[in-house]
Amino acid sequence: MIVLGIETSCDDTSLALYSRERGLLSHVTASQLVHEEYGGVVPEIASRQHMRTLLSVYDAALARANVGAGDLGGIGVSNGPGLVGSLLVGVGFAKSLALGLQKPVVGVHHIEAHVLANELGGEPLQCPCVVLVVSGGHTSLYRVERVGRYELVGNTRDDAAGEAFDKIAKLLGLGFPGGPAVQRAAEAGDAGAIEFPRAMFDRAGFDFSFSGLKTAVRQYVDARGELTPAMVANVAASAQAAIVDVLVERTIQCARAFGLRHVYLAGGVAANRPLRAKMQATAGAAGIAYHAPLLEFCTDNGAMVARTAELLLSFGRDDGSALDVFTRGAISSWS
Ligand code: KG4
Ligand code: ZN
Repeated sequence: MIVLGIETSCDDTSLALYSRERGLLSHVTASQLVHEEYGGVVPEIASRQHMRTLLSVYDAALARANVGAGDLGGIGVSNGPGLVGSLLVGVGFAKSLALGLQKPVVGVHHIEAHVLANELGGEPLQCPCVVLVVSGGHTSLYRVERVGRYELVGNTRDDAAGEAFDKIAKLLGLGFPGGPAVQRAAEAGDAGAIEFPRAMFDRAGFDFSFSGLKTAVRQYVDARGELTPAMVANVAASAQAAIVDVLVERTIQCARAFGLRHVYLAGGVAANRPLRAKMQATAGAAGIAYHAPLLEFCTDNGAMVARTAELLLSFGRDDGSALDVFTRGAISSWS
């Protein structure tokens, strides 16, 4: 069965075709560069932009796979969490297509899709495992008993890790999205130059906090006024190290506490090279197997939605015209 996956939850219009037998058949993404000049995603502009690009991205996804609409066996769409206007564009399109083709349509939890992006490399998720979900809107630890059974065991109390990258980039005048910009600037810097805070909570649990780091970076920058390029590189490298240290330490602690032998990364920040390297090294030293999605499937993409939808559809699910969007909430278990 060929499944169409649709991702429009934020600022990427991304569609993909996937089948269990042949894997990914096509994957087309239109990123909205228009938000750069505002230094962040403007929801109203994002939904209108999705409306403009969705049909041509859909046509391109079919054409590249050399399949017609009649070949589709089902449709999956990210229906939350995300920006309500952006989600509505994708869900409206998915439902009308399903109705016209008389095919099933399923809503895909965007975060579950990020988790299952790990399977796009060809290997099934090794469970039980712990997954660190790090994106622009989420920083969470999930204990995954098996695909379909998720337990949220840690969460951020304030900013998400991606949000911290984005805000620090803005403070340093590095542009948007901030994660890749901070990573690039940090390459020329010294990660030990500035001792930024690493928020760790003594109490049981695996929560995160990044607002203190953001404040510390702001105070550092404000106190110095104009920063030289060398100082910018040092701030970027030191702030990135503070984020990475906390993410890695918490994840490994969590894996140890639950006796889990596999850790996974998921979400846009999983593309961060220092995070991948440190998680791999620390997990290795602890005798825990480390996994991460291929780089191209870390940030928002339709491929992860198509892969997740294929799984849900294979259990006979069809959400039909009742499918609605939601703006927040952890992954719920379905198996
Ligand atoms: O998963 P994603 O594409 O969208 C959400 O669901 O939020 O994640 C986007 C986030 C942004 O905050 C972006 O700055 C961050 O992922 N990001 C990175 C990197 N690439 C993207 N953060 C750190 N290093 C990167 N290389
Ligand atoms: Zn995402």
